[in-house]
Amino acid sequence: MQDKHPIGVFDSGLGGLTVLKEIVGAMPNYDYIYLGDSARAPYGPRSFETVYQYTLEAVNWLFSQGCPLVILACNTSSAKALRTIQQNDLSAIDSTKRVLGVIRPTTEVIGDYTETGHIGILGTQGTVDSGSYVIEIGKAFPDVQVHQQACPAWVPLVESGDYLKEKADPIIQECIDKLMIQSDLIDTILLACTHYPLLEDKIRAHLPANIAVVSQGHIVAESLATYLGRHPEMESRLTHGGSISFFSTGDENAFNTGASVFWGEEVDAKTAIL
Ligand code: DGL
Repeated sequence: MQDKHPIGVFDSGLGGLTVLKEIVGAMPNYDYIYLGDSARAPYGPRSFETVYQYTLEAVNWLFSQGCPLVILACNTSSAKALRTIQQNDLSAIDSTKRVLGVIRPTTEVIGDYTETGHIGILGTQGTVDSGSYVIEIGKAFPDVQVHQQACPAWVPLVESGDYLKEKADPIIQECIDKLMIQSDLIDTILLACTHYPLLEDKIRAHLPANIAVVSQGHIVAESLATYLGRHPEMESRLTHGGSISFFSTGDENAFNTGASVFWGEEVDAKTAIL
């Protein structure tokens, strides 16, 4: 019997830490396990089938660590794998466990941020091509126009740590320009990849001050708190030890270096074999 029943938080690499930080800030008493599949990041350019397989492996691993609830803190996984896992796999694995994503909670509120009714989405190629944001925002806010731009070079910039260097600036600028040229009316930009908040200072530096740049972490944290309030049968299964364990499928040192910069304190990740 496992004595801990943590909330599992998954991403292809370091990006999901931007979500975990907000969740832990809002609900510090639960136990958490973070898993980054850094060995196989980026997920953005990978096929639907591959992202689904990798995400399912990660979810199964987090379940095996005692998590009754897993958050896919990855837009690409949420776009390409979440529905199949929820609808086809969970009943075969354990129908009492739950997997939640980041796209639905975000699209439920993002329309409230814009005054012009024009939102820019920056995401991975996979997320943009899936059309998930266009479809889901269309349902929640039918009057809002969505403009999308994929930024395939950005996740590698974050995973390598190169985002801190000056050479990242033109790479960041290029994608922002490609988005902003789509409409003069964009007043809100959603960072629809959990890696991108690490680039937020540089993104803001390339934009006029009147454009709102929205990250998902706090939105997902609020939505999770609401979910747990509405689902006492899940809430009561989670343990309240206040612990956080970090795991990576890739090189521990590289993960720890990247994660520590972001987390603001030493991160000591262990290796996960999925
Ligand atoms: N953080 C993931 C997301 O939110 C990045 C995916 C990738 O590895 O390309 O989409």
